[in-house]
Amino acid sequence: MTWSLVVTEPEYRKAEAVFDGAADFTVCSVPPDEMLLAERIRTMAAPAVVLGVETYRGPLYAALPAGGILARFGVGHDGVDKIKATAAGLFVTNTPGVLDDAVAEHALALILAAAKDIAEFASKVRAGEWRPHSTLELRGKTLAVIGCGAIGRRLARAARAGLGMRVVGCEVRTELHAALRRSGDFDDVTAELAQAIGQAEVVSLHVPANADTRHLIDARALDAFRPGAILINTARGMIVDEDALYDSLTTGRLGAAALDVFETEPYTPRTPGKDLRALPNVTLTPHIASNTTAACRRMAERALENIRLILTGHPEEADLVASPAQIGQG
Ligand code: GLV
Repeated sequence: MTWSLVVTEPEYRKAEAVFDGAADFTVCSVPPDEMLLAERIRTMAAPAVVLGVETYRGPLYAALPAGGILARFGVGHDGVDKIKATAAGLFVTNTPGVLDDAVAEHALALILAAAKDIAEFASKVRAGEWRPHSTLELRGKTLAVIGCGAIGRRLARAARAGLGMRVVGCEVRTELHAALRRSGDFDDVTAELAQAIGQAEVVSLHVPANADTRHLIDARALDAFRPGAILINTARGMIVDEDALYDSLTTGRLGAAALDVFETEPYTPRTPGKDLRALPNVTLTPHIASNTTAACRRMAERALENIRLILTGHPEEADLVASPAQIGQG
């Protein structure tokens, strides 16, 4: 039995060997454009599509047959409209757990890069300039981890055990606090954002993108940062108000920011005069935190396995984000 499968081109390229090696699928890669994807799904009569981080608003949901699958290659599912998917009788899956190390490592790399001014030094030395200055030592400093899911916990452990940082976790799901405290990965746990931010030299974001977290880091939150603090974002761009961040970095309130994700990707300044690329205290990477060779292989394998489980009648074993069964359940 082989199933037709449409895969967005960037994701196909990230794990070509896995997709090509899946004998039970006939794979077709398509640019991540909603109309093109919908058209190919229809012509191939594909029951499933593997998707990257882009946002899908319309034609995709009508193109798949009822019982079809929107399979995220990755963990964040903010680009998929779960209400539309559910209404169309579709399943939505993601790949939790397989990219935690990759993203936590990238967050750690950005913390070190920002604390040690790596991006600025590297570009100066390349340009023939030799202008050393002192940088921040992290041992004994406080890291606030905003969102204590698997990635946040991985980062907390690495920063605490590896760098000797004091780590405060900020988690709105208070039912998790006792377990987080017991884990030994955190020195303190709070549900209050301002309380966590106010005591930290470094703040790293690990919350999902949804209506509650849109511009969680806005001008007001930035005012609660300690002077000279560092902001790290490997979660989603929409969590940070980039214009407010620009103001905070240029007035000297915030010391530095290191960002892998942006409100618009590829990065485009929201306001033309507030271009984060122009600031020497900003380190930018192109949404690649989960993009390690090993994590990409695991994401592809997991996305395919989720599709197999659903197509063979075992949806309860898949990583379900939404399913047709939720219709009528509010
Ligand atoms: C990456 O951004 C993901 O959501 O997995």
